[in-house]
Amino acid sequence: MLLSEVDGLTAATPQEWDALRIKYLSKKGVVNDLMADFRNVPAEQKREVGMKLNELKTALQEKLAALKETMAASEDNHDDLDLTRTPYPVRLGTRHPLTLVRNEIIDIFSRLGFTLADGPEVEDDWHVFGSMNFADDHPARDMQDTFFVTRQPDVLLRTHTSSVQSRVMETMQPPIRVICPGRVYRNEAISARAHCFFHQVEGLYIDKNVSFADLKQVLLTFAREMFGADTKIRLRPSYFPFTEPSAEMDISCNICGGKGCAFCKQTGWVEILGCGMVDPNVLEANGIDSSIYTGYAFGMGVERITNLKYQVKDLRMFSENDVRFLEEFQSAN
Ligand code: PHE
Repeated sequence: MLLSEVDGLTAATPQEWDALRIKYLSKKGVVNDLMADFRNVPAEQKREVGMKLNELKTALQEKLAALKETMAASEDNHDDLDLTRTPYPVRLGTRHPLTLVRNEIIDIFSRLGFTLADGPEVEDDWHVFGSMNFADDHPARDMQDTFFVTRQPDVLLRTHTSSVQSRVMETMQPPIRVICPGRVYRNEAISARAHCFFHQVEGLYIDKNVSFADLKQVLLTFAREMFGADTKIRLRPSYFPFTEPSAEMDISCNICGGKGCAFCKQTGWVEILGCGMVDPNVLEANGIDSSIYTGYAFGMGVERITNLKYQVKDLRMFSENDVRFLEEFQSAN
């Protein structure tokens, strides 16, 4: 028997496999017969013939083992198939908590007549700072606060989605009523309370006779839709280069209901967004006539709102993709 014949052996059933084993490897099989004949081989050829015999025996053993395995595998695939068996549970993915909250924010403002606007995350200085009335020496323009891709010309990662407001104003004339959701980047050390990227939703409304009262009403409606009908708001004077007057908005702490707790530092209030009337300089810089139009703008952090809704203590949880954390939001999907 030749070594090359071993390769061609096949067995489709256990019976066929057994027949091969008996034929070649049993006591009265081919290999043993050859071993018996070995006695008659002349001494000077014994070494070579012995090696060949051993090779043949190993090849046969290996081939039979391999055939057995293929047979077992094909049995698994076909004969054992139990169509009535309970299937393995399908693990459904869930939406990320930030996506859930962002969608909820978008939903609320869509119902108030806002449409969506989008823009690039890698931006130029003009759209992020220049058109937004930031002075040349404003600290946000510093490397410590902003990630620069190149300098002169300055290309950077947007630090807020106000850049999208600017892009909308330069291409549209009022009435403008948009919200701009998106990721923003700031050069901060990563900790439980700060991250180098986070998400914002900013809003912009420009038309004739838009007043601060309109802004307040829209924000109150948003707060009640988002956190419940009993939610109260308060506006504190603040400063942003792109709005005048500017304010920060607090809502009554939805964790303690305004009584005071560790989350609201016993004040009963938590800050959720910045807002104000669009500075006329911003309107003019973006090609809108500030003697005809006025507008308001607001901006909020999606992580902040999510923390309030779901009490996520550590910001890093949002970007670590730990399934145990993500699965907790299954029921909210
Ligand atoms: N752009 C501001 C920020 O990033 C938020 C903001 C938007 C404030 C619009 C007022 C008006 O903090």
